[in-house]
Amino acid sequence: MSILTRRRLLRRAALSATATAGAGLPAVGAAGVAAASGALAGCDAPKGGEPTADPSGERLRFPSGFGWGAATSAYQIEGAAKEDGRGESVWDTFSHTPGRTRNGDTGDVAADHYHRWAEDLDLMRDLGLRSYRFSVSWPRIQADGTGKPNQRGLDFYKRLVDGLHERGITPMVTLFHWDLPQALQDDGGWENRDTAHRFADYADAVFQGLGDQVPVWLTINEPKTVVQNGYLWGHHAPGRQDADAAYLVAHHLQLAHGLAVRALRATGLDARIGPALNLHPCYPADDSTAAAAAATLHDGYENRLYLDSILTGAYPADVLADLGPDSRMVRAIRDGDLAVIASPVDLLAVQYYTPLYLTGNGNTVTRWPTSEADWQQIYPQGMYDILTRVTRDYGPIPITITENGLPCPDTLGADGTVDDAGRIAFLRDHLTAVHRAVADGVPLESYHVWSLLDNFEWAEGYDQRWGLVYVDYPTQRRVLKRSAHWYRQVIRDNGL
Ligand code: FCB
Repeated sequence: MSILTRRRLLRRAALSATATAGAGLPAVGAAGVAAASGALAGCDAPKGGEPTADPSGERLRFPSGFGWGAATSAYQIEGAAKEDGRGESVWDTFSHTPGRTRNGDTGDVAADHYHRWAEDLDLMRDLGLRSYRFSVSWPRIQADGTGKPNQRGLDFYKRLVDGLHERGITPMVTLFHWDLPQALQDDGGWENRDTAHRFADYADAVFQGLGDQVPVWLTINEPKTVVQNGYLWGHHAPGRQDADAAYLVAHHLQLAHGLAVRALRATGLDARIGPALNLHPCYPADDSTAAAAAATLHDGYENRLYLDSILTGAYPADVLADLGPDSRMVRAIRDGDLAVIASPVDLLAVQYYTPLYLTGNGNTVTRWPTSEADWQQIYPQGMYDILTRVTRDYGPIPITITENGLPCPDTLGADGTVDDAGRIAFLRDHLTAVHRAVADGVPLESYHVWSLLDNFEWAEGYDQRWGLVYVDYPTQRRVLKRSAHWYRQVIRDNGL
């Protein structure tokens, strides 16, 4: 691995802990500055204040039939960690390891969705959602990650999918949202090439089990986050800090994606499938050529590593060169792997949270206000930039936005309401950027807020609240936040 990579990884590890202030940096360009001026500083919007108005004063209509939705994932909401034959996942192990999560929080109970799914589906219907994106828990289907599927696990998701259809909501199912069966981790996890094949078998079991009731499948949620948070920085399961292992894992996750696409095709089901990638627009932090070069390489690691391999059948040459021929990843790539990874997909799921700014020496700096999540800079223009860039660089592949949102310090008021004006402003500004991208030719089908419900935010436990719906954890009572009421009106109006 090159010196540059090693330096970059160490630096990122440090940066992930402390977000540096970007004050005093030169402006990135007129477009960015103009777009950002409408963005509120995270959740600092005055309580009770009105969200930012669209500066043009025009109503923004979305294409008819646009898929307004919300997203969740299994470990973050289900709870019922030991019920109906569910096995353990790496997140059970990780969250139960002292010091790994804030306050020692775990997903044992989470939002208790496993028991409250019917009530939650009613909430979705009341909101008018047209699409609901959720994930299947691998250890509910195969406790140890292999073998005959557990019917009780499949039945839970069947009930969910049927309940969605009954309420006129289209299910969008993610096969893997990070909860790898612990038994597979014990066999090397994603460092072991065989895990990719185990994933394809599991995917096939889910395809067979849920059959033609699911029109859209997503393979792997944010492979990059597993690579970076799980293996570079170690603050997600399985908690490793090993750059060489991290990119080996990236290759096996990509391979697993491709094998699952092929497994779906082999079933003959008339369903669509694609990857779910969190994309970060990478900008130079100043006008130097060094900053431009750093932003380009960073873009390779953040975006092209995943996009190029799936959509063009090749890993980016600059990233492979930076990793070096002796890296575990480069050595692991076998003939035919890229053809599997590039098996044609039907759509691309994009998740957007934040931009990244690179200085000439490869450091990342913070330019815009951050949310409660210190890694998240609030920059709606980044949404426009990443959507239009994908369409420009990869052609008119249909896109769904499967995550976008922010955490706010939401509290339940004495009057029983939750006034999250900052979230409304964030969603309004990002949807305005989305609308511009659609107007400029991005073939976008749907948009999902992260998240439907407050939930277990991984290493942050229950401290960060990302939901449209407030969860009062001691009672598990659900309360629609003001943003949920606002979003319901957006859906009714099919626009802003
Ligand atoms: C994404 C994850 C999702 C949630 C949001 C805040 O990276 O996919 O589970 O944690 O961030």
